[in-house]
Amino acid sequence: MKDPYVKEAQAHNFRCRSAFKLLEIDSKHRILHPGSHVIDCGAAPGAWSQVAVEKVNSLGRNSSKPVGFVVGVDLLTISPLDGAVFLSNADITDSETQNKIISILPTGKADVILSDMAPNATGIRDLDHQRLADMCLSLLALSEKVLHPGGSFLCKLWDGSEIQLIRDQLRQRFQDVRTVKPKASRTDSAEIYLLAKLYRQIKS
Ligand SMILES: C[S@@+](CC[C@H](N)C(=O)[O-])C[C@H]1O[C@@H](n2cnc3c(N)ncnc32)[C@H](O)[C@@H]1O
Repeated sequence: MKDPYVKEAQAHNFRCRSAFKLLEIDSKHRILHPGSHVIDCGAAPGAWSQVAVEKVNSLGRNSSKPVGFVVGVDLLTISPLDGAVFLSNADITDSETQNKIISILPTGKADVILSDMAPNATGIRDLDHQRLADMCLSLLALSEKVLHPGGSFLCKLWDGSEIQLIRDQLRQRFQDVRTVKPKASRTDSAEIYLLAKLYRQIKS
């Protein structure tokens, strides 16, 4: 109850405090624009999608700006949100789910992939790190299928030995890769975010 972000989240009707992590990253690095098409991986309960809906203008509230699109996916059930399409009870690492997302996207392509996904933590630091790293790597395969050149990728990781490998993989695909730790991310948490901008398709 002492957490100021929890109070703020309630005041702004955000579904959880993590909204402020995305707001902070976006205000500094500008990844969500009116008209952007966004995939939100691990979207439940839906706070990042709430932020994305506003930033990309998916409800068309600002009639002078392009209208974007938000699709969210989670293993859990996500309560409906105006301006977003949700795939509940679906595993984003599963190729069937990925194909479904592609079929839902208006052009079959996206400008931004967001992932705040986390597996259920076992408490064994290395194991939890490895599981989240594997999930992140599976999103790189998704990015090759769906991202527009110039697109962005934001992914949560828990600090550990695989971070360098993932950073290297991102650097092969994106021009600008950086590690970010928003203030709203608890200082005692091992979580960090890798932000990759300016996607360039790798030649196969
Ligand atoms: C920290 S929460 C995300 C919070 C969300 N960004 C928000 O603002 O509301 C992490 C979510 O990742 C989901 N998740 C974990 N593994 C997943 C997977 N393989 N596919 C889809 N969602 C997954 C979990 O079910 C959980 O709801």
